[in-house]
Amino acid sequence: MSRIVAGIALVALANGVWAQNPPSATASATQKAAAPARKDSTSGFAINDQNVIQNCSRCHVRDSSGVMQRLSYMRKTPEGWEISLRRMVALQHVRVDPATARAIIKYLSNAQGLAPAEARPARFESERRAIDYKYAADSRTEQTCHACHSLGRVISQRRTKDEWDLLLATHRAYYPLVDFQAFRRGGPPPPDSAGAPEPMDVAVAHLSKVFPLRTPDWAAWSATMRPARIEGEWVLSGSEPGRGAFSGRLTITKSPNGDDEFTTKATYRYARGGATVTRDGKAMVYTGFQWRGRSSEAGTPADSAWREVMFIEPGWQEISGRWFRGGYDEFGMDVSLSRLGAGAVIAGVYPRALKAGSRDQQVTVVGANLPRDAQAAALDFGPGVHVDNVMRADGDSIVARVAVDAKASVGQRDLFIAGASLKSAAVVYDKISRIKVTPAAGMARVGGAVFPKQYQQFEAIAYNNGADGKPDTEDDVEIGPVDVSWSLEEYSVTYDDDDIKYVGRIDQRGLFTPNLDGPNPQRSRNRNNVGDVWVVATYQDSENGQGNGTGTRPLKARALLLVTVPLYLRWEPWKGDQ
Ligand code: HEC
Ligand code: HEC
Repeated sequence: MSRIVAGIALVALANGVWAQNPPSATASATQKAAAPARKDSTSGFAINDQNVIQNCSRCHVRDSSGVMQRLSYMRKTPEGWEISLRRMVALQHVRVDPATARAIIKYLSNAQGLAPAEARPARFESERRAIDYKYAADSRTEQTCHACHSLGRVISQRRTKDEWDLLLATHRAYYPLVDFQAFRRGGPPPPDSAGAPEPMDVAVAHLSKVFPLRTPDWAAWSATMRPARIEGEWVLSGSEPGRGAFSGRLTITKSPNGDDEFTTKATYRYARGGATVTRDGKAMVYTGFQWRGRSSEAGTPADSAWREVMFIEPGWQEISGRWFRGGYDEFGMDVSLSRLGAGAVIAGVYPRALKAGSRDQQVTVVGANLPRDAQAAALDFGPGVHVDNVMRADGDSIVARVAVDAKASVGQRDLFIAGASLKSAAVVYDKISRIKVTPAAGMARVGGAVFPKQYQQFEAIAYNNGADGKPDTEDDVEIGPVDVSWSLEEYSVTYDDDDIKYVGRIDQRGLFTPNLDGPNPQRSRNRNNVGDVWVVATYQDSENGQGNGTGTRPLKARALLLVTVPLYLRWEPWKGDQ
C-alpha cells in the first residue's frame, strides 16, 4: 500500500515542478543549485567512494581533492540521505539499482553522518514518533519551518550556510507557495519593518550557526568510529501502547556480509495475557550507533515486517528505540536492550503498581541470571514494602508475595536483587486520584479505499496526586496504564455537528479505527468522513472508595481526536537493509 502512496506522491511532486515552472526555468534554477558561488569557506568532505563518484559526479562535479559539489557540504541521517537519493531518482532521472543505492546511502551516512550527541535530540524523527516537538532554541525558525513538516527533519542535518540557503532555494523552486505560507512576510510590510530580514533569512542565519557542517562532536566521533561489537545475548524489555509491558531476550549474530550487519532473533512475552512472540530480523548499524533493521514474526508474510530504529549507546551496553509498522508507522513499541553478561539483570516487575495497605500481592520479577535460590530478604523494594516469601525462582523470573504497609510512602521504587538494580521498577500508591488519556491530542486519517488508514491508539494512565493532594503538580506520581472503558463524544465546534456518526469507532482496547476515505454521499454536502471528536476514558475503580470517602464514582478523562484526510504528499519510509 505504501508503495502506491509513494507513486502518487512522486507524481504530485513532479507535477509541482513542471506545472508551476516552465522546464527551462527549472533547469536554470537547478543548474545554479548544482554549481553555486560559495560564500561560506568551510571545507567540504572529500568523497572517494566509487559508487558515488560513478553515479553522481556527472552533475555533482568532483574536484582534484575529491570534494563534490553539494554532496560534500552536508551531513545527514541514513533517512536524510535516502530522501535525497529518492529525489534524484524521481526528478533528476538518476538510475541506480537497489544494491548500489544501498551502498551509496551507507557510504554517505557513515562518512557524512551525525555523532551520537547530534543525533540524540532528533531521535524521534527517525523513530517516527508522533510527538509534539517544541524547538525552543529559536521560535521564529520553528514557525518558518514547521508549517509543513516536523522540525525533526531540520535538526537531523548539518550544512554550510550556502547549503542551508540552497535547501530553501530548492523548497521555493519545488513548492512555489512556500513564500506565502512561511518563507516571506505576507501582505504589505508593517511601517517599521524597513530593512527587516525575511523569515527565511532569519532561519538560515540561525540554522547555519547552530547546525554547521563541521563540529567538534563529529570530528571526535568520526576519528574513532568503529563497528559496534554488539553480537551476543541481550535482555529485551519494553511496552506497547494497548498491549502493555513485555520482556524477553534478543540474540544478535554477526552477518557474514560485514562488521556492521547483523541477524537477530527476539523472543518476548507480554506480562498481561502472557502471549509469547518470536521475531527474526536483520539490521545494519550506521555510523557505529544507528541501528536500522526489520523483523517479522515467524510464519507471517514478509510485508508484515516491523521496522526497527534504535540508538546504540556508546560503550555498547544499552540499546533503545522503537519498533513499528503501519501505513503511517503509527503502531509501535518502545524497546530497551541491556547486554547480558554473567551478572543478574532485572527487566521489569509485574504488576508494577503496589497498593498501600495490600497483603498477599503476587509480583513477578523478570530478567536474567536472577538467583535461583533467592530468599525473601534478597528482594529490596525499600521501606514499607515487605517480601513475605518467594514462591518460585528459575533464573529468568522470581515470583514473590509482598505486603505493603498502609502508611508506606507513595512514589516510584527502585528494586535491588543480587547486585542488580532497576530504577523505578515498581510504584507504591494509596489511591488513584485521576486518570489521563494519552496522547492528549490524537490524529487519525481516513483511508481504506485509496490511501491506507492512519489508526490512533489511546491509553489511560493513572496518577496519584502526591503529598500535596493537588493534581498536575510536581509531586504527582504516575501509577501506569489502567483498563478503562472507551467511548466517543461530540466535539461541538460547529452547530449541528454530526462528526461522531462518520469518523470511525474506538474499541475497548483504546484503538481508534477511522472510516473510509473519499466523499461520503450520506453526509451533507458530500463531505469526507473527517471531523473532531472527544475520546473519553471511564475508569470504574472498585477499590478506590475503600475508606477515603470517594465512593465508587468513576474517574473520567478525555482527549481530542482529529480525524483528517490522507497525507497525499509523502515519500517512502525508510526500508532498512531490504
Ligand atoms: C542529472 C543530474 C544529477 C545527478 C546524476 C545527481 N544529482 Fe543530485 N542534484 C541534482 C540537482 C539539479 C540538485 C539540486 C536540486 C535538488 O536538490 O533537488 C541536486 C541536489 C542533490 C543533493 C542536495 C539536496 C539537499 O539536501 O539540499 C543531494 C544530497 C544529492 N543531489 C545527491 C545525489 C546523489 C547521491 C547522486 C548520485 C546517486 C546524485 N545526487 C546525482 C542533480 C543530479
Ligand atoms: C511549504 C511547506 C514547507 C515548508 C514551510 C518547509 N518545508 Fe522543508 N520540505 C517540504 C517538503 C514537501 C519536503 C520533502 C521533499 C522531498 O521529498 O525531498 C521537505 C523536505 C525538507 C528537508 C529534507 C530534504 C532534503 O533534501 O534534505 C529539509 C532538511 C527541510 N525540508 C528543511 C526545511 C527548513 C529548514 C524549513 C524552514 C526554513 C522548511 N523545510 C520549511 C516542505 C516544506
